[in-house]
Amino acid sequence: MKKLQIKPETGLHGTLSIPGDKSISHRGIMFGAISQGTTVLHHFLTAEDCLSTLQAFRSLGVPIERNGETVTIQGVGLNGLEKPTEALNMGNSGTTTRLIMGLLAGQQFTTQLTGDASLSKRPMRRVSDPLASMGAKVQVTDGHLPATIIGQHLHATDYHLKVASAQVKSALILAAIQADKSSILVEKLPTRNHTEIMLNAFGADIETAIDDVTITIHPRPELHGIEMTVPGDMSSAAFFLAAASLVPDSQVKLLNVGMNETRTGLLSILKRMGGNVKLSNQHIDCEPTADLTVTSAELKAVEVGADEIPDVIDELPLVALLAAKANGISKITGAGELRVKETDRIAAIVTEFSKLGIAITELPDGFIIDGTKPWQVKDPHLSSHGDHRIGMVMAIAALLISQPLTLDGADSINISYPEFFDDLNRMVPQAKEVD
Ligand code: S3P
Repeated sequence: MKKLQIKPETGLHGTLSIPGDKSISHRGIMFGAISQGTTVLHHFLTAEDCLSTLQAFRSLGVPIERNGETVTIQGVGLNGLEKPTEALNMGNSGTTTRLIMGLLAGQQFTTQLTGDASLSKRPMRRVSDPLASMGAKVQVTDGHLPATIIGQHLHATDYHLKVASAQVKSALILAAIQADKSSILVEKLPTRNHTEIMLNAFGADIETAIDDVTITIHPRPELHGIEMTVPGDMSSAAFFLAAASLVPDSQVKLLNVGMNETRTGLLSILKRMGGNVKLSNQHIDCEPTADLTVTSAELKAVEVGADEIPDVIDELPLVALLAAKANGISKITGAGELRVKETDRIAAIVTEFSKLGIAITELPDGFIIDGTKPWQVKDPHLSSHGDHRIGMVMAIAALLISQPLTLDGADSINISYPEFFDDLNRMVPQAKEVD
């Protein structure tokens, strides 16, 4: 049980280097592994999820060395992966699981995948069913892990995705690069496009049409290793964007944050709410980055609907927190995907916010939050529900309260942001060591 930092008297201040992007770190390992030659990733995210990917590819026979945040991968090419000697353990990582299913579906060996209790509850037919349309044999257990992937020669597909999911899209892209002809995928809504951008940087031929949802994948690319610096993760920066916006008298600068426009939904929403975020030092190295300076602000209520959800999917618990202090009634809808994340994030947010006396109403696909109602702690014992993002959002919520609170399951934060509490304490220098 962890004691949380309570309301700081002088706001949050300082400059923070945000850890590497989780989605990009996973993909860097995977695409480096199936390329020819050496790939070097700088500022790799050394959190548990990405280490699951690193370990899985070592088990597939890929030489990978890690020195702190620098990872060097000796690529074995698209035909060079080896059958692992035992089941691959995906840990808590949905991204590793779903992307690897698409990749291994086209390899000429059989692999078993297992995962932890949370991952073993998450839906996998959303990947195995569309892969089956390409001739893949991915056997899941009642729609879940454990899974067996019996590698096949794959054929091209022309497929309309049924869920707006970058993981499903990426699995199909990794299958399509191994197919006999060009494939076309049509998304329901544009989702994060790191797979398309990065695979093209490794030498693939993937075209996205002007509509942003039609993707053509040409098979059998000659992939070659690259050197790349992983941008800071917008989804991790988001906790400090919210904290500094909400805690009066704050100003923090977040360095080198990934600004891919399929990931910046929180910035647009915060702007509509009256937030104050300034961009500087913009760069592009495969993916765009910028430094963000955020200053506290009076926030207005907001409406967020289905079209906007993919660009802010992992930050929605924070949007709910911003709404809980905004002037008016906010409504978030079209976010049913939150129910199949590391935990049911709609139920978890409603449970935890209710402990703080926040006026929140659960919807099947979102929340209604009345930010005009004062908070009143009803239960000081908060829980992460075993979900890293829920744990961090509750630690940020505690900064708005003057009485001691505790968090159960804080270890889950290691999934994406092991230095989270160190970074938070650095922003609140007068804070007593949080143990
Ligand atoms: C991810 C895609 C999203 C996101 C997850 C990472 C990725 O999941 O929530 O944290 O790296 O492709 P879905 O594809 O399930 O929406």
